[in-house]
Amino acid sequence: MVGWTFSGIRIKKSLVVLILGSILIFNFWQCKVMARVSGPCSECHTMHNSQNGQPVAENGTSAQPFKALLVGDCIYCHTGTNTGTNKTPYVLSKTEPDYHFGGARNTLAGGNFYWVQSNDRKGHNVKGIAAPDATLGLTPPGYDPTNYPEFGKYRPSTWTQQLTCAGNFGCHGRFDASNPALNDPITAILGAHHKNINRNGTEPADEVWNSYRFLWGIKGTEDPDYELHPDTQHHNGYYASTSPGDPASINYLCGECHGKFHSNTYNGTYASPWLRHPTDLDMNSLSDSQYANYPNVKVFAGMLGVSATGDYFADVPVGNTRGAVLSNVAGAGNAIVLCLSCHRAHGSPYDYILRWDYKSWPGIPDNQNGCLACHTNKF
Ligand code: HEC
Ligand code: HEC
Ligand code: HEC
Ligand code: HEC
Ligand code: HEC
Repeated sequence: MVGWTFSGIRIKKSLVVLILGSILIFNFWQCKVMARVSGPCSECHTMHNSQNGQPVAENGTSAQPFKALLVGDCIYCHTGTNTGTNKTPYVLSKTEPDYHFGGARNTLAGGNFYWVQSNDRKGHNVKGIAAPDATLGLTPPGYDPTNYPEFGKYRPSTWTQQLTCAGNFGCHGRFDASNPALNDPITAILGAHHKNINRNGTEPADEVWNSYRFLWGIKGTEDPDYELHPDTQHHNGYYASTSPGDPASINYLCGECHGKFHSNTYNGTYASPWLRHPTDLDMNSLSDSQYANYPNVKVFAGMLGVSATGDYFADVPVGNTRGAVLSNVAGAGNAIVLCLSCHRAHGSPYDYILRWDYKSWPGIPDNQNGCLACHTNKF
């Protein structure tokens, strides 16, 4: 009896270990697969785009099938309202999203394409969402086709097509102007959704699936909820470099199409006085102490968790050389100015896709002017 009980306990102990172990392995496995698409194939694919003689794609509204047997295009799947429980990140809403600089929102890190549908200035005019920009046309402002030969692959030398979500004329996915197959967004991204990882810092970004947000070659850390509710600890970790030629930085991504606003040739001697607003510059390397006061607690304390000097302010983000999620940006290489410090990538309620209402200040409260987060003695 005693022996039995004893071995019974032993069995229970090993069972407990086994169960705990399985839970750990399961959780680990869940973490690993969380970033990939999952669920019934039929939610996202249709074999013939026909069921009982009726079309299936785009909820039965498209008689045209989509590549990779998909039920719709990028925009179809990525349209909706972010609630915190949706698995698909929504970047276009059917009704006006909630957007408050430094406050509540239901938009993600890139903002939302909603506003560009009725105003060219308020977003990237992506094909399928808005007509080409009536003022800017097809070519990105500041485009320089001779920039960035690092990859040996170039953006198109002339912009003959409207901006797309992905591909040669798009931001996500592969590009290689010598390969016209990559003009197609699905072709350019193929394989990424099923292999996607929750990527981290400076890990390799040589494929679309292991690149930051499918932005081919770009490094960084992806916030699991795409910055739906950011604070000092929950946000993307933007990889930045003090070298504009580093092809893995988030600034380089913008520079691929807006080169003249990024490369040092066009920005001056890479020191004050500047010719164009600097990026790739580490505020912790400047002698002018105003920049060490980022994010300006006199103005922004209480917003998105900001309470002390050096706290990361998710609505005026800065990058770092490790592409890490930092809650405090003190230290060399931790406060690098980004294009995204001032702009959203997709769209915003403000002109030039700015994060805040630049035009209306002064006249609106100081804490609605993001310039003051870095220029802490300019008001
Ligand atoms: C939540 C949406 C979603 C679900 C569910 C889904 N897929 Fe996909 N799948 C996609 C998207 C989006 C693409 C095309 C873009 C890409 O590859 O990144 C794709 C591409 C593919 C491809 C071609 C590219 C590749 O990765 O090989 C195959 C094959 C595929 N899916 C098979 C399946 C099968 C089989 C299932 C069910 C077990 C399934 N998918 C479930 C969204 C989904
Ligand atoms: C059939 C639906 C579907 C289609 C079509 C689709 N997506 Fe997605 N996409 C998803 C889902 C679901 C996720 C979320 C994956 C996850 O679980 O993390 C996603 C995630 C993403 C992400 C985030 C990746 C990351 O690393 O965090 C990007 C970027 C993206 N899609 C871009 C695109 C682009 C560009 C296209 C068109 C070429 C496209 N998607 C087409 C369903 C789709
Ligand atoms: C694949 C090329 C491409 C990339 C990459 C790209 N853009 Fe653009 N951008 C364009 C094009 C084309 C236009 C002009 C048409 C339009 O407004 O969409 C544009 C316009 C803009 C505008 C002016 C918007 C307006 O209507 O006044 C801003 C601001 C901008 N981009 C910022 C960025 C930032 C910031 C990044 C990096 C996160 C970036 N872009 C990456 C192609 C690109
Ligand atoms: C993320 C931080 C950051 C934000 C946000 C920011 N700046 Fe700057 N800005 C800098 C840094 C750093 C410099 C370079 C200062 C130096 O070299 O001494 C700079 C330089 C400048 C200069 C040129 C100064 C010179 O010496 O040549 C002007 C003008 C300027 N910024 C205006 C603005 C305006 C207007 C805004 C808002 C639309 C803004 N900045 C937002 C960080 C920022
Ligand atoms: C300090 C804030 C700030 C930073 C950093 C910044 N921009 Fe801008 N950007 C603006 C403002 C403000 C405008 C509106 C025009 C103006 O005031 O010059 C603008 C306008 C633009 C335009 C529209 C130009 C046009 O002709 O209509 C593009 C494109 C653009 N920015 C891209 C970028 C890119 C790419 C980067 C990074 C290399 C970047 N911006 C960095 C604040 C910024």
